[in-house]
Amino acid sequence: MSVLSGSRLSARHLVGLIGDLDPDRPVYDALAERVRLLIADGRVPAGTRLPSERELAAQTGRSRTTIVAAYQALRDAGYLVSQQGSGSRAVLPDSGQLRGATEARAIDFARAVPPPVEGLRDIFAAVGLRMVEALDGPGFDLLGNVALRRAIAQRYTDRGLPTTPDQVMVTMGGQHAISLIAHTLLVRADIALIEAPTYPHAYDALQRAGARLVTTPVTSEGWDVEHLSDTLASARPALAYLVPDFHNPTGASMLPEDRAEVAKAASTLGTTLIIDETTADLNIDRTWDDGPFARHSRRRSPSDGSGIITVGSLSKSIWGGLRLGWIRADTAMIRRLAHARPAGDLGTPQMEQLLGEQIMAAMPGLLQRRRELLTEHRTVLTRLLEEQLPQWTIPHPEGGLSLWAQLDKPASSALTSLCEAHGLSLVAGPKFSIDGAFERYIRLPFTSPIADLEDGVALLAGAWEQLTFRDTTRTGVSRLPAVV
Ligand SMILES: Cc1ncc(COP(=O)(O)O)c(C=O)c1O
Repeated sequence: MSVLSGSRLSARHLVGLIGDLDPDRPVYDALAERVRLLIADGRVPAGTRLPSERELAAQTGRSRTTIVAAYQALRDAGYLVSQQGSGSRAVLPDSGQLRGATEARAIDFARAVPPPVEGLRDIFAAVGLRMVEALDGPGFDLLGNVALRRAIAQRYTDRGLPTTPDQVMVTMGGQHAISLIAHTLLVRADIALIEAPTYPHAYDALQRAGARLVTTPVTSEGWDVEHLSDTLASARPALAYLVPDFHNPTGASMLPEDRAEVAKAASTLGTTLIIDETTADLNIDRTWDDGPFARHSRRRSPSDGSGIITVGSLSKSIWGGLRLGWIRADTAMIRRLAHARPAGDLGTPQMEQLLGEQIMAAMPGLLQRRRELLTEHRTVLTRLLEEQLPQWTIPHPEGGLSLWAQLDKPASSALTSLCEAHGLSLVAGPKFSIDGAFERYIRLPFTSPIADLEDGVALLAGAWEQLTFRDTTRTGVSRLPAVV
């Protein structure tokens, strides 16, 4: 059990994360259970120093004896170590201590990572010999090679958004693009608007760049555009980060008329929109295509600063292992980002970019095959869930990679813990928000092989049946590096 020296959590912050306690169990036990789930889920990272028993007693209004008993329960379960003089720190128990862990094969429902698109092997084989071309220059660059930028720009143009190559920067994936934009544009304490729920590493990046976050809700049915417009007007955020196509995790798409309204509001208020189109090519059966969101930009010239920055990526549509993405913006913004980029990295590798060029040329056929896989997998997962967990509400997203399932009781974190102990990794609903909401939801990707979908849902259904609010002690420990 290793103890890292981490940050300190105030009693007020911890109480905010803990939320409501289960009224049917002793207070110390309910408290210990909530803290244990926060640690297992990574929302209180291992190494974090927890408030003293006295501080927590004062903040919660509970007796010191209750808090002492809760901390003791956490120590007994291996989630807390206390040292004289340096307080109590959150830890993850060694796997040997896990109760209920099985030797069964691991099933991954935690990452929405589709397999390489069919046809990618042929492209790899064809590019193989051309790889030596990468040896002709330094092999990496800040903006991306011209041929690839031209191909990306052409695709935007073909989809109704005239774009020149100097409006494009090639990045090492969508996450890299988001992080670069956040660190370049935000100054400490700027306000940034995000959706709730949203893709967690986007809010991570914005927070790390110093932003204070405000949220606007999204459900499987879509956006509350009035709320979004009102929040833009009242909070006046410097940035707003939106995923308008096959949103992660809900799968929702923003309607064309709503896009126009949001673009207009943001432009009027001077909010820069970061439009993440990493998932935009994952259509299954949406009957309309409005083209890139930035078509709603109020300004048209490549150099005049549209206020809309678009992020794209090949990770979901083609393969995550490529680590290829891009930013589309006005030329001045691309120059500004290129100027800031070397502080974080020195450029995208040329070898991946050679593959990217070939992929862009073959895009329509590859996307058709991606769509076939997603169609089949969504159908299978939906059927399995409807058969085995009829008490849940299963949405029917028109695209994307996952189902944002609604549970019939708020126990997403407990379910995640129990499943983890049986070899099924999941990400609990609260991970997709900044405030611990969404205990009533779980994201279920349909990207795994069909056999895993079948075994995973059987496990999920068994766990849900077993799960009562008292039976959450069989824990697993999430060791996920990233929630994608
Ligand atoms: C909405 C969204 N944006 C960006 C990313 C990160 O993309 P990449 O793998 O290209 O870095 C993800 C990955 O899950 C995502 O869901």
